[in-house]
Amino acid sequence: MTIASIILAAGQGTRMRSKLPKVLHPVAGKPMVWHAIRAVSQLADLPPVIVVGFGAEAVKQSLKAERVDFALQAEQLGTGHAVASARPNLEGKANLVLVTYADMPLLRGESLKDLMALHQQSSSPVTMTSYFGEEARGFGRVVRDSHGHVAQIVEQADATPEQLAIREYNVSAYCFDADWLWGALENIPISAKGEYYLTDLIGLAVAEGHQVNSMVLEDPLEAIGLNNRVHLAAADKVMRQRINEKWMLAGVTIINPDATYIEAGVTIGQDTVIQPNTHLRGTTMIGEDCEIGPDTTVIDSVVGDRAHLIASMIEQAEISNDVTMGPFCHLRKGAILKEGVHLGNFAEVKDSSLGAGTKMGHFSYIGNAVIGKNVNIGAGTITCNYDGEKKNPTEIGDDVFLGSDTMLVAPVKIGDRSITGAGAVVTRDVPQDTLVMGVPAKEKRKLEKSD
Ligand code: UD1
Ligand code: CA
Repeated sequence: MTIASIILAAGQGTRMRSKLPKVLHPVAGKPMVWHAIRAVSQLADLPPVIVVGFGAEAVKQSLKAERVDFALQAEQLGTGHAVASARPNLEGKANLVLVTYADMPLLRGESLKDLMALHQQSSSPVTMTSYFGEEARGFGRVVRDSHGHVAQIVEQADATPEQLAIREYNVSAYCFDADWLWGALENIPISAKGEYYLTDLIGLAVAEGHQVNSMVLEDPLEAIGLNNRVHLAAADKVMRQRINEKWMLAGVTIINPDATYIEAGVTIGQDTVIQPNTHLRGTTMIGEDCEIGPDTTVIDSVVGDRAHLIASMIEQAEISNDVTMGPFCHLRKGAILKEGVHLGNFAEVKDSSLGAGTKMGHFSYIGNAVIGKNVNIGAGTITCNYDGEKKNPTEIGDDVFLGSDTMLVAPVKIGDRSITGAGAVVTRDVPQDTLVMGVPAKEKRKLEKSD
């Protein structure tokens, strides 16, 4: 038996009032359609077919790393019409078709497994999903007959006052027998709004004499559908709570989960402590036994074990084991800190590597530089890397001592074990074991190896 899946993502989402297609709005750092793909991928045998329409190119572009197929729904004529657009992709290839909507990022793969299991026990060609709750959020109502059997789904806009009072809602996750689905889609009547509603297939199956079952969600939060930005914030909060709980159960201490923002693509090692107001974003990987925060943002970066990062901003950087940093440091793209590096306050590093044990305590900017091991970068040291046209490199050897307020006018090199005096403006290369001072810096003397 082959299970296929279709995810509807062609609508504009006018209620979002956005230039961005609705399904690309991020929840916990990933587009909502990404979450929908994760859920169906847990049980579908074929790559999910994403039905795109509004902003099709942007949606495809954002999913280029995913294993998915696309179907184009050129005109958005309703959810039933959208599913029919995927028919050429799947007809003859699958026995069962799962259908979900891209605007329900909180729906779990486990719930879809329950839906599938219920479908396989039933003789009906369709099985649906519903939940009971107080807040209607514009959802379709599940109308049941006097025996309690599902009779039809009525959209909120078409519902009578009695139907509006129903507290069982259509989630919009369905399992269909493929052969039945393709035929039935042709029988959907056009609605008053001029659309073909997928939800009408429930009433059609009942009219054919089938008893349609509904898998009732235990956790109604899974059903939060996102139609506007109020729903978006609500879903983001739930997703963050789930992510935080996952990491806490995996051995990470989160001091205040309500003030911790960990995106879906992040990993964290055991016994790391996350202090409040910390944002871990993108593809960030944090090692074990670290202390991150308070007030720290790490984006698309790798952090080793036992790092302490306080009140700092770290973007596209690599931090090895036992690094300490902050408060108020800024690592930008291409910053590499080797083992045991210490940055104090107001340190900025960009496109540079700092060797093991190097220390940079106060007020420094290092850009386009390669710095060796155990270098002391005195307070106020700056690489003058930009000449108004291009960025120039600086190279510093091992065990160098840069006095306070050294200006390194790039391109420039300083050899191993050399020393610059306070306020030196280094405009020419300095050989190893040499003391330089002044403006511009001049050689004072050769240093004994034991100095
Ligand atoms: C839909 C359901 C409703 C259910 C609710 C749950 C229908 C008719 N109604 O209503 O019963 O309670 O979801 O969230 O199905 N889309 C397309 N092509 C289209 C129209 C929509 O791909 O022509 C996509 C949208 O991108 C979206 C999804 O289908 O991802 C649902 O569309 P939306 O307009 O949000 O439907 P709801 O009004 O929420
Ligand atoms: Ca919706």
